[in-house]
Amino acid sequence: MMTVDSPEKLLAPVLSAFWDQPESWTLDTYHRHEGYEGLRKALAMPADDVIALVKDAGLRGRGGAGFPTGMKWQFIPQGDGKPHYLVVNADESEPGTCKDIPLLFANPHSLIEGIVIACHAIRSSHAFIYLRGETVPVLRRLHHAVREAYEAGYLGKDILGSGMDLELTVHAGAGAYICGEETALLDSLEGRRGQPRLRPPFPAVAGLYACPTVVNNVESIASVPSILNRGKEWFRSMGSEKSPGFTLYSLSGHVASPGQYEAPMGVTLRQLLELSGGMRKGHRLKFWTPGGSSTPLLTDQHLDIPLDYEGVSAAGSLLGTKALQCFDETTCVVRAVTRWTEFYAHESCGKCTPCREGTYWLVQLMRDIEAGKASLEDLDKIADIADNINGKSFCALGDGAAAPIYSSLEHFRDEYEAHIEQRSCPFDPAASTAWA
Ligand code: NAI
Ligand code: SF4
Repeated sequence: MMTVDSPEKLLAPVLSAFWDQPESWTLDTYHRHEGYEGLRKALAMPADDVIALVKDAGLRGRGGAGFPTGMKWQFIPQGDGKPHYLVVNADESEPGTCKDIPLLFANPHSLIEGIVIACHAIRSSHAFIYLRGETVPVLRRLHHAVREAYEAGYLGKDILGSGMDLELTVHAGAGAYICGEETALLDSLEGRRGQPRLRPPFPAVAGLYACPTVVNNVESIASVPSILNRGKEWFRSMGSEKSPGFTLYSLSGHVASPGQYEAPMGVTLRQLLELSGGMRKGHRLKFWTPGGSSTPLLTDQHLDIPLDYEGVSAAGSLLGTKALQCFDETTCVVRAVTRWTEFYAHESCGKCTPCREGTYWLVQLMRDIEAGKASLEDLDKIADIADNINGKSFCALGDGAAAPIYSSLEHFRDEYEAHIEQRSCPFDPAASTAWA
């Protein structure tokens, strides 16, 4: 696990400040690093002022979509007589995305503190963490931290004498990618098969048990205590005007030092590679994803785009989860896209026809192309199938499946054609470690 902390560092780490310390996950360690100070400040403030502070700080959702967090909290109707819920989406599973799980493992109290602050703001007395179930060591650590928080009076009845009550339930999911989609997650939490619901109504209006619900990503909520502690101007002093603050970037693939890098929003991949030791020795960047495989892939021409919502969208992609998967010149782009397509076909929940059937047919064609058994017309066919999935599916999974097809055809059509003309893959699979 690494943070940007070199002489030419871009930022004094906040989220990852003490991940490398012994027993970083305990309440004692957290107390030594301003732990629960933000909560004390929040409880002394009216709930609406907490919402205004987070809104003015400009914190945007770190789960992928970048929706303003304070605005989401503000959507929760007040005086409606219904229970309000906060659900933390910890079902991280976008390919290449691995920031929330390390954060929970190393510092679970930052999330718990953020949860109590958020629940004070939206007047909720029951919060849930929906965790990716395969991460059993993280589940254990989270249970331990929740127990510590109850014993210390940060959860339960009359929190810190403020009159606020809050129960926190940790729920382990069963390992379906689609349960990271917020409405499928809510169905799964209610005990049903996880499939996306029609939106609107958004969860803010009718979410868990049909009550107003905020669904926020782990990193978004874990960022909140520092805003309470240090203020909106401090938060806005990092990043750009529309994408302020700090964030975790996950660097993976053919890089010298994969890991989590905390840096201001708007840093570039070139800067992150310079700080982290670059690509593996003797190799150069060929293509990369700014936010996992659901975002259109980019090339070495895009090394200097600011990694924020505006910069990446100007380059024709999406920032998404900030999962920077970097591939060097030994990687066959057709092979990489085929693996991602297989993933989407496997994880498609089957609710809607364009995604269920389209991802199946994409896999058949991509496997043929990879094996050199396809024709040039098949390239038009995969683009056509992608057209029939993109924007025509029920949820974002379908669009995500189409993204690598479009972008790889746009940037690497010659490589597709080489497979067809040579009637085999022109790459040596043994040379590439990432797609063995
Ligand atoms: P979205 O843009 O539809 O919604 C974002 C959030 O804003 C949601 O919580 C939604 O309820 C809320 N929202 C939007 N409009 C609203 C309105 N008018 N009223 C009230 N609330 C509103 O994005 P979506 O479909 O929730 O997420 C897609 C993103 O998820 C992608 O950008 C992708 O990067 C990311 N993703 C993350 C994964 C992970 O492992 N972290 C996995 C797969 C995708
Ligand atoms: Fe299910 Fe795919 Fe349709 Fe989403 S797009 S509802 S995952 S079938």
